[in-house]
Parts: sequence; C-alpha cells; structure tokens
Amino acid sequence: MQLVVLVSGRGSNLKAILDAVTGGALDVSVAGVFSDRQEPPAFQYARRQGIPVYSVVPGKNESRTNYDARLAREVEGLRPDAVALAGFMRVLTPAFLDLFPGRVVNIHPALLPAFRGLDAQAQAVAAGVRFSGCTVHFVDSGTDTGPIILQSAVPVDQQDDEETLAARILAKEHKTYPAALQLLAEGRLRIRKQRALIDWSGRRPRLPRDCVLEWQEIKDSNQNTQNREGSYSE
Ligand code: GRF
Repeated sequence: MQLVVLVSGRGSNLKAILDAVTGGALDVSVAGVFSDRQEPPAFQYARRQGIPVYSVVPGKNESRTNYDARLAREVEGLRPDAVALAGFMRVLTPAFLDLFPGRVVNIHPALLPAFRGLDAQAQAVAAGVRFSGCTVHFVDSGTDTGPIILQSAVPVDQQDDEETLAARILAKEHKTYPAALQLLAEGRLRIRKQRALIDWSGRRPRLPRDCVLEWQEIKDSNQNTQNREGSYSE
C-alpha cells in the first residue's frame, strides 16, 4: 500500500509509522510526507529515510476549499492508496476528502466520541474521567467524527495534568496507529452504515511487535464472533 502522511508539527506518530515500516511490521511504502507548515520538525524523520517532503502552505486569504483542492492535487500526484493524518492541524473539507473516499485516516488523543477537537487531553483532565486514550478513525468532513477503527485506553489518575496524560496517551498512539494502518493495508477494513468493520477472518493480522497486547485484547473481545464464524484459529 502506498501511503502519504500529512503532518503539522512534532512528528512522533510519523516516526512510529516509519519505524514500524523499517521493522517489517507495517506493510506500506511511505511515498511522501506533506505539511501545511514550511519546515515542521516532523520532516526530519522523513528526510532521514530519504522520503520526499512537501510544504503546501496556505495563502494568507486562501479559502479552505481552495487550499484543500490544491493540497489534494499535490497529494494525488503521488498516487497514494491511503492518506494518514498524523498531527495535521486542519479539518479537511470535501475538496480534499472526495478525492480519497474511505482512504483518509487520523489519530486523535481521546476515546472518541468524547473530547473531539483541540486539547483533548486537557478536556479529559477537566472532565475528571477515569480513562482516556486514543482513537484511529476514518476521516469525514466533521471534526473527529468519522468511523472508528481502533482505540486504546489508558487510566487517568488524580495527579494527572494535561502533559502527563498526553505522554501516557502518546505511547499508546505509537502502537495503535501502525496497527490500524496494517489492518488497512491488509484490506481488512470496510465502512458500513458509518461504522468501520474489521475483517478478522483468515490469517492473523501482521501487527507491530508492540501491538501483541492490543491484538490479544482485540482477539479476546472478538472471541464470540470468531467462534460463531469458525474462521479464525490459532
Ligand atoms: C497526537 O497527539 C495526535 O493524536 C494528534 O496530534 C498529536 C500529534 O503528535 N492528532 P505528533 O506530531 O505525531 O508527535
């Protein structure tokens, strides 16, 4: 699967994706990394591996639609099978999304549909929830509203502030995003009635080594389905 990644900042999820590819756990080829910023720190990770980077910076008074159409044309030039948003700080409009139907995914640092939008970790701390986490989802034109692919949870303790919680969630993001992309690469994801369905039949999905625990949890939670269909054995 040819993948394009869109970033705006730090790039730790991009790094996790690239590490999973290098380690042989994620079966994609990253064709290019795009940003709406001139020189985001994330570009360093791509450059280190000789992956081309592209800055597509919005013009001062450029409309969202115009920018998205321009970005889409550039991305389309690399003929990607999928587009992964990794800390890309813009909400994409149909001018972009319509070119890649069901092929754009994002990671969000909360258990959606809770705490959409900015500062999800601060929202979680303020709400006093006992658990938060991260969600990989397909992107639609809403803010963090698309069909959910995978989620990982972390506990929130009373001493947590935005930073400590963000760090705990980030460690989960780095495992969960490559795992979700691997499911996409293996053609195991379908969207039906606004829900993302995972095909667990056939061989065990090849997940990054760190995701063994997540896989075990997923497999266990799907045990009934597996037994009913009798299609999975290990
Ligand atoms: C992550 O927390 C991600 O969930 C959110 O933006 C942050 C990006 O971090 N969408 P990084 O640039 O991948 O380090």
